[in-house]
Amino acid sequence: MPIPVLIDTDTGVDDALALILALRSPELSVKAITTVAGNAGVQRCTRNVQKVLEVLHEHNTVPVVQGASKPLKRTLVTAPEVHGFEGLGNFIPVLLHYHTRVRANAVEVILGHCRKYPKRLNIIALGPLTNIAAAFKRGPSLMRNVRRIISMGGAFRVPGNTGPVAEFNYYVDPEAAEAVVRGRLPLTMVPLDLTEQIVLMRKDLEYRARRRPSALSRFILKFTRHYMRYHLKAEGFDGGFLHDPLAVAMAIDPRMFRSRPATVHVETRGRWTRGMSIADFRVRPSSRGSAVEVVFGVEKERFLRLFHERLWT
Ligand code: BDR
Ligand code: CA
Repeated sequence: MPIPVLIDTDTGVDDALALILALRSPELSVKAITTVAGNAGVQRCTRNVQKVLEVLHEHNTVPVVQGASKPLKRTLVTAPEVHGFEGLGNFIPVLLHYHTRVRANAVEVILGHCRKYPKRLNIIALGPLTNIAAAFKRGPSLMRNVRRIISMGGAFRVPGNTGPVAEFNYYVDPEAAEAVVRGRLPLTMVPLDLTEQIVLMRKDLEYRARRRPSALSRFILKFTRHYMRYHLKAEGFDGGFLHDPLAVAMAIDPRMFRSRPATVHVETRGRWTRGMSIADFRVRPSSRGSAVEVVFGVEKERFLRLFHERLWT
């Protein structure tokens, strides 16, 4: 039976690829998508999710609910240099099937799904943890009763991608991240240590898209262009990291990953270290921290095979 999944996302380019992977994977059943401000403002993120669903003809099947428009305590920082002002590069998606927004509360929707699928729900958090922290504050026992929360975020033994030490999602809302990592939740972190091991090269993408011409492959080519140009300038390779698709793959097939338990904290007070994640792999769960599973290795070929199989067939 497919695993019930709720995806919380700040749809961005790699988020969009992650959504496509999730929606095309029979192992998962995506029950709802909630949005959060991060890569772009939350309205743009919501529109981007809706566009992905339209292209996949899933706009009538998966509810999209808009969530937090800013972090718990801070001013929103977005990432236009990486994801463009629109979140999907500079491509402006026009919606064909959505006329009104679903007027639901994202926190209620998250808790409602925890209630509906106790011990079975996987929550995949692809952006700042603002909605997840708010849901945890309102319903801690419901949130502890999920099967797994997979959060793409953090950087332990590699440099940050937002300043020298912090990963973007935890930098944007460090208070939310800290509340979640110390919440004694069944949490799995997918940090930059893992995600920067996997790159989607532009040549490879174009080759595959050309072999499978379709509305979906044209859409993917359009929204990844800016992201890849950014990586060429900033990282020196002509491609892009697959941060968020790796978090989805963790839900699809955890056996291809290697992880270790650790006590984790996220810095909320440091002057130069906002959002930095710190792991103590000696694991001594205490009242001030709780053990989370930190993913640090993946079978690269196996992951890429899965990713491409699902995207292009
Ligand atoms: C994370 O930040 C965002 O820019 C990406 O979508 C990903 O979730 C990587 O640091
Ligand atoms: Ca993201």
